[in-house]
Amino acid sequence: MILRVFKYGSEVLRKKAEPVIQFDDELRKFIKDMKETMIQYNGAGLAAPQVGVLKQLFVAGIPENYEDENSPIQWYVFINPKITYYSKEVETINEGCLSFPDLFFPVTRSSRVTVEFQDEFGVKNVMDAEGFLARVIQHETDHLNGILYIDRISPLKRSLLKNKLKRFQSV
Ligand code: NI
Repeated sequence: MILRVFKYGSEVLRKKAEPVIQFDDELRKFIKDMKETMIQYNGAGLAAPQVGVLKQLFVAGIPENYEDENSPIQWYVFINPKITYYSKEVETINEGCLSFPDLFFPVTRSSRVTVEFQDEFGVKNVMDAEGFLARVIQHETDHLNGILYIDRISPLKRSLLKNKLKRFQSV
């Protein structure tokens, strides 16, 4: 089922998500719907608050090979994630967000992170991630805390996006 994606200006995007406690079929159905929604809108990541659900959960789907547009997608599900390590080394890369359709701009983030999380059955995991996956993990974990990628750029750069942002707020 394709879920509604809330756009910038929606209050739900600014709220803090609650931990997931029940790892049941209902949760797994919701995760399936989130994956379908992400594919529908061509995203690389989708956090539960973006579909109006204030739960600490996000999905990520990264092509195994970027050069090949038919490349299979490697799926990840992160529940109750905590980033326990951010590398000092950073990268600045263009980022988008399904809550801001067609708005891409460079964001500086750590190149590597370590994240503790649970899977869809509640099993605890730890992952070291780098490159694009590390970026998605940081972007989506921010969503769970009501933080958006426009908060991660300087006020000056943000003011340059002002007119583009107005477009979303009227929706
Ligand atoms: Ni986003």
